[in-house]
Amino acid sequence: MKEKSIELLNRAVADELAAVHQYMYFHFHCDDRGYDLLAGLFKRTAIEEMLHIEMLAERIIFLKGDVEMKASGETQQIQDVKAMLEMAAQMETSSANDYNKWANECSQNADSVSKTLFEQLVRDEERHFDQYDVEMENLEKFGDNYLALQSIERSKNIASGRPVE
Ligand SMILES: [Fe+2]
Ligand SMILES: [Fe+2]
Repeated sequence: MKEKSIELLNRAVADELAAVHQYMYFHFHCDDRGYDLLAGLFKRTAIEEMLHIEMLAERIIFLKGDVEMKASGETQQIQDVKAMLEMAAQMETSSANDYNKWANECSQNADSVSKTLFEQLVRDEERHFDQYDVEMENLEKFGDNYLALQSIERSKNIASGRPVE
C-alpha cells in the first residue's frame, strides 16, 4: 500500500516543481518590468511551493521510496500579466483538486500521515489561488493603471533609498 502513497507523493512533487519553475519565470518578467507587487507575490509563492516539495520528499523517504524530481510540465513562456495570473490560478485549482482526491486515496490505504499532508497542502493552494484571484480582480478593476502604479511605486522606493525586493 505504501507504493501507492509514494506514487501520489511523487506526482505532487512533479506538480510542485512545475509550479516553482513557472512562478520563478513569472517573477523574473514582472521584476524586469518593475511590477514589484506581482514579482514579490510570484517569488514568495515559488518559495512556498519549494517548501511543499521538501515536506513531500521527507514523507517519500520515510516510506522508503525515492524522490523523482521531474517537473510535470514545461515552463510556459507567458509574459502577459493577465495570462500569467490566469495560468497561476488554474494551476492552484488543479493542485487543490488533485490533493483533495489523493488525501482520500491515502486515507483509504490507511496512510493517515500522507492524508494529513495532502490536506495541509490543499489549504495552502487555496490560499495561493485566492491571492492570484484578488490580483486578477484588481487588474480587471484598474486596467493598465494597476501595472503603472506598481512601476511608479518601485521608482518611489528607489528614489527614497528603500530596498526593492
Ligand atoms: Fe504547492
Ligand atoms: Fe500553490
